[in-house]
Amino acid sequence: MALYFVTGNRGKFREVSEMAKKYGLVLEQSEIPYIEIQAEDLKEVAKVGVQQAFAMLKRPCFVEDSGLYIHSLGGFPGPYSKYVYLTIGNEGILKLMSGFSHRGAEFRCSVGYCEKADEPVVFEGKVMGRISTELRGSGGFGFDPIFIPEEGDGRTFAEMSVEEKNALSHRGRAIEEFFRWYVIHRRERSGE
Ligand code: IMP
Repeated sequence: MALYFVTGNRGKFREVSEMAKKYGLVLEQSEIPYIEIQAEDLKEVAKVGVQQAFAMLKRPCFVEDSGLYIHSLGGFPGPYSKYVYLTIGNEGILKLMSGFSHRGAEFRCSVGYCEKADEPVVFEGKVMGRISTELRGSGGFGFDPIFIPEEGDGRTFAEMSVEEKNALSHRGRAIEEFFRWYVIHRRERSGE
C-alpha cells in the first residue's frame, strides 16, 4: 500500500523521497490542505495535523512540522518559523542577529504518522548549529542559506547536497527513526 507524505513543500518531499529509497519505500505526495494548528509544541502540531490529513485522505500518511530555534532570541521563531520566513525572511533574521556574538541555533522536526484515526505516532529529530553572518549557497529551501550545522564542515545546509543535508538534519533524523519503525511495523501488520 502506498505511503503518502502530505506536504505542499517540494523541498521537503525531495529530501524525504531520497531517504525512502534506502528503505525500498515509494512515497506519494499529497497536497490536501489540512489545517495546521498553532501550538508551542511541534509534536502536538504533527499529531493533530496527521489525524486531520488521515481523516481527509483515508490512507496511511505522514506529515512533518519543523522550526528554527535561535538561542539568543529565546528560541524565536520556533513554532512561528513559517510566518517569520514569509515575512522577514533570511535577510530579516540576519539583521535581527547583527551585534549578537552568540549565534547558536537548532532546527527541530516532528513527524506524525497515522493509519488509524485515534492512533497517531510521532517521531522527533533535531540538529544543533549556528546562524551564519551572510547568506550562503543555493540548494535546499527556507532557512538553509543561513544555518551551519555543528557536525558539518562549516558549510550551510544550502551549500550541501540533499544526501549530505539528510545525514545531519533534523528532518533526516526524525524520518530515519520513522522509516526504521515503519518497515518493521508494516512487516508485523502484514504478518510476514
Ligand atoms: P514548516 O511549518 O514545517 O513548513 O516549516 C516552518 C518554516 O521553517 C518554513 O518557513 C520552512 O521553510 C522552514 N524550514 C523547515 N525545514 C527547514 C529546513 O530543513 N531548512 C530550512 N528551513 C526549513
